[in-house]
Amino acid sequence: MAKVDASAFITREIPRPGIDIVVEAVGQVDLNPHDRVLSREELLAGVAGRDGVLCLLTDTIDAEVLDAAKGCKIFANYAVGYNNIDVQAATARGIAVTNTPGVLTDATADLTWALLMSAARRIVEGDQFTRAGKFEGWAPMMFLGADISGRTLGILGAGRIGTAVALRSRGFRMRVLYHDKVQNEPLEQAVGAERVDLDTLLAEADFVSVHVNLDESTRHLIGARELGLMKPTACLINSSRGPVIDEVALVEALKQGEIAGAGLDVFEDEPALKPGLAELPNAVIPPHLGSATIGTRTKMATLAATNLVAMLRGERPANIVNPEVLS
Ligand code: DGY
Repeated sequence: MAKVDASAFITREIPRPGIDIVVEAVGQVDLNPHDRVLSREELLAGVAGRDGVLCLLTDTIDAEVLDAAKGCKIFANYAVGYNNIDVQAATARGIAVTNTPGVLTDATADLTWALLMSAARRIVEGDQFTRAGKFEGWAPMMFLGADISGRTLGILGAGRIGTAVALRSRGFRMRVLYHDKVQNEPLEQAVGAERVDLDTLLAEADFVSVHVNLDESTRHLIGARELGLMKPTACLINSSRGPVIDEVALVEALKQGEIAGAGLDVFEDEPALKPGLAELPNAVIPPHLGSATIGTRTKMATLAATNLVAMLRGERPANIVNPEVLS
């Protein structure tokens, strides 16, 4: 197929198959040459005069950037979450926004379980202890953690990823509670999940796993009050977006033993951590690795690129989040 006479900008290197799709289809393609997030000035300059931009969750795409990209048809986000983009402002300017749903569900659910198990069984603390040469032999009271099998899992947000996390609990014979605006009948049938209100979920779950989108209704959904409702033996897991949890309140709750542990893949001021978090032995804190497998990141790259190219060819992108711009 002939190349589209258009100009595209990719804000940071992504797996090659994604870049190749854009390069093969679009006349002019530029890629951020640095292995880092672009500065604000670089981003504004990079998007200027483009027909399409493939951007990342680390790029803040607000009205100023959208105006700098005057005439642009699409911002194709390389992520399922798109809280980094002011979608309303994009829609007002007739710019399509797309995301990458589905392809990262399994990897993120897997990582969520890694967080849960690491927090429950104190894997990171134990690993650091061994590496520090402190392991002097098996001991009956060393690093005692929490049971997982037979316990209660609370899923906050039972969409694609929340559901996948809940389904993985089958092997652990867990009771599953979920809180969501909508009923999830398939989940109820698959694992006998019970839909409950937020406070019941927090009070009864041994593991609370957060999977809501970040928007103004979910910012600080979990704060001091909510943490206070959780069992002192419970763990809080978050692989969605950091600002859903009031991180200052969480640090305090972990310090005071209001809850037993946390597994966090995302942070409120990412990449910065709130004071005290990094020093807490009962927090497991990988650097936003939910989708970080070779296969998943490759699928995200090809999906984001395919969305971008479709729009530039005048076709409907499969994963458009503001379809009203097409009408
Ligand atoms: C997403 O796609 O929203 C993830 O956070 C990236 O790993």
